[in-house]
Amino acid sequence: MESFIQEMKRYLGFTEEDAALLRQLGPRMEKYLPELAERFYSQIPHHPNAFRVFSGGEAQIARLKQTLQNWGKRLFCGVYDHAYAEERYQIGYHHVRIGLEQKYVISAMGIVRAFLSECLLLEFPAGDVRLRYARAVSKMLDLDLNLMCESYMHASMQNLRALNEQLERANRDLAEASRSKDEFLAQVSHELRTPLNSILGFTKLILDGLTKTREEERELLRDVFSSAQHLLGLVNDILDIGRIEAGRMAMHMEDVDPRQVLDSTLPLVTIPAHEKGLELRDETRDAQLPRVRADEVRLRQVLLNLLSNAIKFTPAAASGEPAGRISVRAQIVPASTASVAADGHGFLRLEVVDTGVGIQEEKREAVFELFVQGSAGRRHEGTGLGLAISRRLVQIMGGAIGIQSGDAGSGTTVWFTLPLAGEHAGESPAAAKEKLSARARK
Ligand code: HEM
Repeated sequence: MESFIQEMKRYLGFTEEDAALLRQLGPRMEKYLPELAERFYSQIPHHPNAFRVFSGGEAQIARLKQTLQNWGKRLFCGVYDHAYAEERYQIGYHHVRIGLEQKYVISAMGIVRAFLSECLLLEFPAGDVRLRYARAVSKMLDLDLNLMCESYMHASMQNLRALNEQLERANRDLAEASRSKDEFLAQVSHELRTPLNSILGFTKLILDGLTKTREEERELLRDVFSSAQHLLGLVNDILDIGRIEAGRMAMHMEDVDPRQVLDSTLPLVTIPAHEKGLELRDETRDAQLPRVRADEVRLRQVLLNLLSNAIKFTPAAASGEPAGRISVRAQIVPASTASVAADGHGFLRLEVVDTGVGIQEEKREAVFELFVQGSAGRRHEGTGLGLAISRRLVQIMGGAIGIQSGDAGSGTTVWFTLPLAGEHAGESPAAAKEKLSARARK
């Protein structure tokens, strides 16, 4: 700023003599300042764009008239130092902040200039004396205007810089997205090829008559069948991901009874749980769950996903060890902890808790990414898409999803929330919670 002041003074030829002239002029010009303010604000508020910035009505204009007179007084103090320049620069910034375009400030300076030369004409009828004063005033007005315009320049530079950063960020995100898409495609091709190769290999063995017994043939056919099932699951998941990413996942949001969804979903995982000797416990059975806003089919898909994962990552019962357990729990939570859409409504939080292998803290977020499995040890069977799809589905339904886990081996809790429906929506979470536990006590 300091060098800018010096530069401007040099270009405009502002000297100590000018400063002295302005100081002399001050007492003679003060009486014109109320009229200057009147003239200024009789013209400016009628500008077609002014209504936007003059929102304070008459009171604001009255205040501004006083402000303009004070501004005028400082013109004639003859001091043009850092403090003065900073103040004028801030006035410019004030106009930037209220959204006044620079061209209006420049034109308005014309009103001040014309008025002050009329005053000088009245005060100094003799031309040569007036000329010296007029030149000093003109230099001061130029300095003022330059400083106000400098704030505009600075503000647009800042805007441009912010815009540039935004563009750079968008560019980086695009590059990252494109890289993820490539990785996704490579992973998808790999995942599809594995069951396809099994299907082709096993059927060829059978077709070539290389199986010795009927039982051996049946064994291979069973493998073909499960590979085909796995393939179908993969294709369905990939189609889902494709639809979600393209924003074309059609949701049929309605008031849904979670009890019914749980009752129709839990039996689907009873057999696989029992095959591994795991206990499946529905801890919500005695509670009357409030209805939620959701797409019933998708809610079932999410639940099934979380339950299947829990079963997959909980080791089969071994002799002498306590049996692993998968539990389903429910609770009402306030909006702020349940979703980014903090609209004051309560949410139902469903939890699938297992006593399985657990998941390291640094991998907890990653499991919601495509094709990532967070568990330790060998790669578990599955598409690796389940949690990624579940997260997106829950988010589209207006909820959130997360994972909690102790250290490896201490089990995992995957929770998700859904907004309470209709009659419960406006209810405070405390009231809905009270109902939930009251019904559970009955
Ligand atoms: C030579 C041109 C101008 C000068 C010297 C001037 C002077 C000032 C000053 C000294 C302030 C107070 C700023 C502060 O507190 O930092 C101000 C505020 C303001 N000016 Fe100007 N101004 C000019 C042009 C304009 C124009 C063209 C408009 C509108 C068309 C305008 C509208 C306003 C408004 C709305 C405020 C804010 C009022 C508030 O705080 O309520 N000004 N101006």
